[in-house]
Amino acid sequence: MARIERAGTVIEVTVGDITDCRVDAIVNAANPSLLGGGGVDGAIHRAAGPKLLEECRTIGGCPPGEARITFGYDLPAARVIHTVGPVWHGGTQGEDEVLASAYRSSFALARENGLRSIAFPAISTGVYGFPKCRAAHIAVHEALVAAATGHFRRIALVCFSEGDAATYGRALEVAAN
Ligand code: AR6
Repeated sequence: MARIERAGTVIEVTVGDITDCRVDAIVNAANPSLLGGGGVDGAIHRAAGPKLLEECRTIGGCPPGEARITFGYDLPAARVIHTVGPVWHGGTQGEDEVLASAYRSSFALARENGLRSIAFPAISTGVYGFPKCRAAHIAVHEALVAAATGHFRRIALVCFSEGDAATYGRALEVAAN
């Protein structure tokens, strides 16, 4: 799949289940309650076990565009960074900025916690309906900005299908050239 290197950071697009990723932190595409849901959120809670929900209950939610951190419990990843992307309403309600902010907030929490490898799902592109190509360009842009800090060893954009990986991979190639 697509892969580039910037300032010592590998940025790659992969296909797979994010709950299998052996990284310092995986990012969850959560909802503002942080109390679980479907899609990748459901998969992360199932794989992490019930202690994740217990910890999430103590947080008190998370507004769109922000992020919160927990432990990973039974996941291979030590930490989970929960972020909330925007619900797509046609693109005129600040959706692009909220999605970018979800990525930026997640990278910021990773840096504050000394986490050097991080895997993201395609935030907002499932139930929340954000167009994939548009979301891919935002994700890649924010990954490049984060790579420029020199903090990260690896940033993985983990897609759940080959088709999504082609979309995110093209965005990475465009941004790299
Ligand atoms: N690994 C990687 N990617 C996955 C996985 C997985 N195991 N499962 C799904 N995806 P979504 P959203 C992809 O709907 O759009 C939840 O109910 C999926 O194919 O999980 O941000 C929350 O609680 C898609 O490309 O998240 C919220 O209510 C991407 O993950 C709401 O959904 C995101 O799809 C958030 O919606």
